[in-house]
Amino acid sequence: MVVITGASSGIGRATAHRFAETGARLVLAARRMKPLEAAVRECAKLGGQATAIQADVADPDSVENLARRAIETYGRIDIWVNNAAVALYARIDEGPLEAHCRVIETNLLGYLYGSRIALRIFRQQGCGVLVNVCSATAYVGQPYSSAYVASKFAIRGLSESIRQEVRDCPQIHVCTVMPGATDTPFFQHAGNYMGRVAQPLHPIADARRVAKVIVAAAERPQRTSFVDIARVLPLLKAIAPGWIEAYVGNLVRKRQFRDEPAPASPGNLFEPMAEGDDISGGWREANTGYRRP
Ligand SMILES: NC(=O)c1ccc[n+]([C@@H]2O[C@H](COP(=O)([O-])OP(=O)(O)OC[C@H]3O[C@@H](n4cnc5c(N)ncnc54)[C@H](OP(=O)(O)O)[C@@H]3O)[C@@H](O)[C@H]2O)c1
Repeated sequence: MVVITGASSGIGRATAHRFAETGARLVLAARRMKPLEAAVRECAKLGGQATAIQADVADPDSVENLARRAIETYGRIDIWVNNAAVALYARIDEGPLEAHCRVIETNLLGYLYGSRIALRIFRQQGCGVLVNVCSATAYVGQPYSSAYVASKFAIRGLSESIRQEVRDCPQIHVCTVMPGATDTPFFQHAGNYMGRVAQPLHPIADARRVAKVIVAAAERPQRTSFVDIARVLPLLKAIAPGWIEAYVGNLVRKRQFRDEPAPASPGNLFEPMAEGDDISGGWREANTGYRRP
């Protein structure tokens, strides 16, 4: 039985599909019920069985309630996928302070709440797999996303530390998955105080490809699973840290924002957005102004 947070769109929803194809029983969590209920119907068509539960991962009581209802429904939790996250594009000295803090509350504390509950249940069961969906940004800093990048660096540390705590339980596994830029509504959902529309950097992976890596990590647990090109970043960071930092910084400055004005917006940080309720964000077909970084 699998719990996935952030299953109403993007990578979480694609992961729900992938698990459903294996006949899995699922609990799908997010704040938006309508897309979650659509995902439940999609999973049924694919051969799985899913239940939608509304949850705000930044609220520890809501995450407790999610775990309790998952246990009430299916009796156990075998795999917990921490995936729900938000993004914010703003300089650290600009954008509302509460927006920067909300990124940490959702992305880092949300994973901490989920990990804590999952591990408590896994210890009672004597087994379980925790999958923390992290990011290639967990290795190299980048400008205008400092809270987001900090949350992903921290998730890497959180996962490594929890893994050491469960060394006494060989049937409990803690895995991190590192995607690079992925075609999801993430960029439409992001809070944005840069004055220009945000877009992903190339190469842009299909969310279904990321889902495949997540399900593989859950089925054959590994410490860290990179999605394709994402594995290059830690290698370059180890070999040429100054060069890769400068390269990524220049790339973000040149390519992350379109020459199109965007009003200052908190995106989906505090309240979910109606738009972006599908797996894709339309980025692989979109003209992002360039093809290769
Ligand atoms: N797309 C990329 O380029 C990329 C690259 C590397 C890593 N990632 C990671 O992949 C994961 C999934 O992101 P995505 O790309 O699929 O973006 P997405 O489509 O925006 O999905 C984010 C999910 O998180 C949920 N969420 C946000 N705040 C929440 C909250 N407070 N409580 C519960 N659910 C919440 C959203 O649903 P509701 O709004 O309905 O709550 C949505 O289901 C994230 O961890 C992200 O950091 C993405």
